[in-house]
Amino acid sequence: MADSLELLESLGTALLGETFARARYESYAKTAGKEGYQEISSAFAEIALQEVQHAKQLTKMIDRLGGIPSVILSRAVLPIESLTTAEALRVAIAGEEGEAEEFYPAIAKRLEEADLSSFAAQILAIAAAEEHHADRFRWLSKQLDAGELFSGQAPWVCRKCGFRVEDGAAPEVCPSCNHPQGWFERSSGKVTSRAAEEEVMARKVEKEASQRMTSRHDELKKRVTVREEKAGAPKDDNFSSPLIEEPASI
Ligand SMILES: [Fe+2]
Ligand SMILES: [Fe+2]
Repeated sequence: MADSLELLESLGTALLGETFARARYESYAKTAGKEGYQEISSAFAEIALQEVQHAKQLTKMIDRLGGIPSVILSRAVLPIESLTTAEALRVAIAGEEGEAEEFYPAIAKRLEEADLSSFAAQILAIAAAEEHHADRFRWLSKQLDAGELFSGQAPWVCRKCGFRVEDGAAPEVCPSCNHPQGWFERSSGKVTSRAAEEEVMARKVEKEASQRMTSRHDELKKRVTVREEKAGAPKDDNFSSPLIEEPASI
């Protein structure tokens, strides 16, 4: 039962982490918007909503496994920080990397050991999403730190009105809608500059990371299937878990 309780605690910690990530990213989105970085603000806002999806999936998982131990809630600590956009990006990268590389793979391993293979696979898929988040924040952070968020080469597009600039840096003010430079972002059009080539490279890195996670996921599934076949274990949909037989409570 101790192992089952620990598993639920890990999932509960993950749920709190996703919930806090949403709150923090929404706050960071506001800060980035106020500092004039609309593309970064939008990235934080979009990823905040994606963390909500992770939280929903974790809630369902915890529910199926018998509920959340109240001890988790007593340990909750909400980090409250006042960060600049550059600092917020660094914090977000570290958090996403930790989730993708250590935190979720460790939970997936525990789920696998508890013969909960479909949950393990889903946790690894969440880890893959976190890796994408880290890649996206890393790219924005690199450009911001290098002072290249608006100074690289075209093409640029105004997020506010869609005005497109084919040559040079982003204009100080959009000639179409008069919104400031912070509303411009690199268009995903053809490769015309070093900056755009870097964008293509960043996507390649993202794709490779995704493939890595998929093969990890496949390998895990294969191992679990072989073990289930050997043991004649029931499929996950009908699994008989000690977690369900003995709902966790303290
Ligand atoms: Fe997440
Ligand atoms: Fe994330």
